[in-house]
Amino acid sequence: MAERKYEEMLNIRTTGLREWRNETHYHRYEATPYKALDELFKVYKLQKDDEVVDFGCGRGRVSFYIHNRFKIPVTGVEVNDQTFDEALDNKRSYRYLASDIEAPIRFNFALAEQFEIEETDTVFYFFNPFSVDIFKQVVHNILKSVEENERSIDLILYYPTGSYKRFMADHTPFKLINKVRVPDAQDKKEKFLVYRLA
Ligand SMILES: C[S@@+](CC[C@H](N)C(=O)[O-])C[C@H]1O[C@@H](n2cnc3c(N)ncnc32)[C@H](O)[C@@H]1O
Repeated sequence: MAERKYEEMLNIRTTGLREWRNETHYHRYEATPYKALDELFKVYKLQKDDEVVDFGCGRGRVSFYIHNRFKIPVTGVEVNDQTFDEALDNKRSYRYLASDIEAPIRFNFALAEQFEIEETDTVFYFFNPFSVDIFKQVVHNILKSVEENERSIDLILYYPTGSYKRFMADHTPFKLINKVRVPDAQDKKEKFLVYRLA
């Protein structure tokens, strides 16, 4: 389905970019393309007891897409206040049409590196939201949460950078279980890497 059709179906506005000013660690807002999400979920299935966290959720596209398609709880974490307000506006318009889905969809205004992970959170999504230094802190928090409450978890990277991949391979117990390419992508980074800690 075309981007515009998806936006209409979900009743949200998530297109466009937003740059940070004078910020090196936090990356700009840009949404994961819908056609990439379609490709990922052709081969990767979320289970009914999964709960997803989108670190750096922006205007919430991935959160709404997953909530609508899988009807499971989703939490978006965003620290740009303007972008966060847009996610809340989207939640109002989305919920106007999707009031029948019982699972919660939540947005938290927070730094990803300070976000408290719930023991029920099982899938963690990242579209290149911040520097690898912040990514390391977030992964550390995820691993600590698993140590405290043992469970199988997945971590999904879209547009993975070399530094994220090296960190995952060399310094974490995660296993790479899937690579999903976006058809006709010009840029080699336009793909998903799915890691599992079982
Ligand atoms: C590339 S966008 C991804 C948006 C969304 N996840 C998607 O895939 O459609 C990255 C987002 O991360 C946010 N961000 C950057 N650093 C952050 C941090 N430390 N904590 C929370 N959000 C952050 C940015 O403001 C931006 O909206």
